[in-house]
Amino acid sequence: MNKLSRPQSIPFIDVAAQRQRLGKSLDEAVGRVLGHCQFLGGPEVTQLEQDLAAFSGARHVVTCSSGTDALLMVLMAKGVGRGDAVLCPSFTFCATGEAVALAGATPVFVDVDEATFNMDAASLKRGITTATSLGLKPRAVIPVDLFGQSADHDAIGAIAAEEGLFVLDDAAQGFGASYKGRRLGTFGLATATSFFPAKPLGCFGDGGAIFTDDAELAQTLRSVRVHGQGLDKYDNVRLGLTARLDTMQAAILIEKLKIFEDEISARNKIAQRYAIGLGNLVTVPRLAKGCTSVWAQYTIRLPERTDRDGFAAALKAQGIPTSIYYAKSIHQQTAYSGFPVADGGLPVSESLSSDVISLPMHAYLDNPTQDRIIAAVRGAIST
Ligand SMILES: Cc1ncc(COP(=O)(O)O)c(C=O)c1O
Repeated sequence: MNKLSRPQSIPFIDVAAQRQRLGKSLDEAVGRVLGHCQFLGGPEVTQLEQDLAAFSGARHVVTCSSGTDALLMVLMAKGVGRGDAVLCPSFTFCATGEAVALAGATPVFVDVDEATFNMDAASLKRGITTATSLGLKPRAVIPVDLFGQSADHDAIGAIAAEEGLFVLDDAAQGFGASYKGRRLGTFGLATATSFFPAKPLGCFGDGGAIFTDDAELAQTLRSVRVHGQGLDKYDNVRLGLTARLDTMQAAILIEKLKIFEDEISARNKIAQRYAIGLGNLVTVPRLAKGCTSVWAQYTIRLPERTDRDGFAAALKAQGIPTSIYYAKSIHQQTAYSGFPVADGGLPVSESLSSDVISLPMHAYLDNPTQDRIIAAVRGAIST
């Protein structure tokens, strides 16, 4: 093919467009940190924690080094460990189950709902029974707000309350979304999020945060974040981690948070256009009643018997990248195959893993580019 006629490749997530929009404000924010040189624990970290609390409605925010550490820190702070079971969906990023295993507890994987891809309440109940029958003590449940859409927090919260479990919401993909009018960060005992650069609210490296209304837990988390430090900094009172968010990332996130609302609304418009352009041909994502999404991913299901690799290749040939989240559910992955799954198995997770595919999604996807993606998807499905 002639070089000139080759379709121009578009990014899957355009972090450069956002960088350009924020321009000088980011340079100045980083410049301020370079000026005061408090690279850890600088004033921007406290400022960001206050800004995130105001944004989410949570009373306390503890920033940290990643979304994975955010999950792990809550489990450590609550003393979750050997002999304990933590119920997690399997159709999610591995870190949800990994944090449980790193804490020394057993992840028990449960299935997800076919329409929302989020934790299925009936499978959660079965998972609790499975855990108990294996001699494990169910301690916690980690719902995931997958692809940006909030999980069914009422249903999961009710089961957790009945069974005496605490809820740790994994909002690594969903931070910014809401459930029945309340922002994520305010459900369950605590919420973890990630600021990985590709997340809807991402920094320029690794980062994360924990949200909670529980003052005692927040204090313990601040100790876990720095080696289990006590009031006397030479007396460490528990085991902890090196898990701080550095000041530079906090300074960047303060600026990004200022435009986050606007970006969420842009993402929602893009999702609506995708649904209109593709809804009669593929299964487009559905929002459950009372749920909103920040559209961390726009994930479609292909019609039965579509060759997914062929579909991805057809789009790639037109300069359009795709990604498969998740080609293997966690329980299907080598490191996790020995952990239990809820009675009845996880048929929905397994079937989603075989037919989902995600399209480019970010707040800076303009209409002509989106139309190009829609046309390419339609063309690849109908051939
Ligand atoms: C659902 C989910 N949980 C946890 C994580 C872990 O976040 P991090 O990559 O910041 O450790 C991610 C990030 O990719 C995620 O998507």
